Amino acid sequence: MQGRAPFNAAEERGWALFKEPEKGNCAACHTAEAEANDSPPLLTDDSYDNLGVPRHPLTGGEDRRSCHDLVLCRNKSLPASIRAAGLCGAFKVPSLRNVAVRQACFHNAAMTDLREVLAFYATRDTDPRRWYGPGPAFNDIPPDHRRNVNRNEVPYGQKPDEQPRLSEQDIDDLLTFLHTLIDADLAGSAAKPRVAAAAASVAARADPPAASPRVANHP
Ligand code: HEC
Repeated sequence: MQGRAPFNAAEERGWALFKEPEKGNCAACHTAEAEANDSPPLLTDDSYDNLGVPRHPLTGGEDRRSCHDLVLCRNKSLPASIRAAGLCGAFKVPSLRNVAVRQACFHNAAMTDLREVLAFYATRDTDPRRWYGPGPAFNDIPPDHRRNVNRNEVPYGQKPDEQPRLSEQDIDDLLTFLHTLIDADLAGSAAKPRVAAAAASVAARADPPAASPRVANHP
């Protein structure tokens, strides 16, 4: 985007899907426009949203309210206007800069594979059993707050068994695009890309790898 290197074909397709309102629609929340001071996009609009992320497989206590992370509507130090029940289960939209070097994704670290995160966006509503098993969907949120989950905005809003808006190829292309958001000094530490194109584009951009820096999930 700074004109210092061209996107390859897969990156270009992924970037288009990222912005396309009827496909990925990622930019609706992970803003892709330059910031007000003309600095490069932060890839977050700083809003909060409720994606219904699955429960971390190692977390127990599903049936205990106190075991659900409901920060925004629970934290007594926040003003009452922010603690509104509609925000139970919502989390801040994270920046996607350097997302491909993170060890785990989502507030509860439920996923450690970035391709899985993208597949979740594509098939949360078309194949809910893949993410929640045979039990109810949105299993990391207490039943009375599940209505808060975003069901309307693309890429969500489809019916079970419908064709996902994003194909397997689209997911690969989005993944490849997300690898372009790695800072040059972190390029050597990218978590094993799952598609050859992503691996090749990271390798092509990599400056001499920095000595495996530790990257926090949410710095
Ligand atoms: C409606 C708003 C919205 C849309 C649309 C959206 N996201 Fe997100 N995204 C979020 C929120 C909110 C989170 C954090 C959710 C959580 O932790 O519970 C998130 C988390 C992520 C993460 C995990 C990052 C981390 O550090 O944990 C990735 C990767 C991601 N989104 C990529 C995408 C891609 C790619 C698309 C398009 C296919 C997309 N998002 C569409 C709101 C959105």
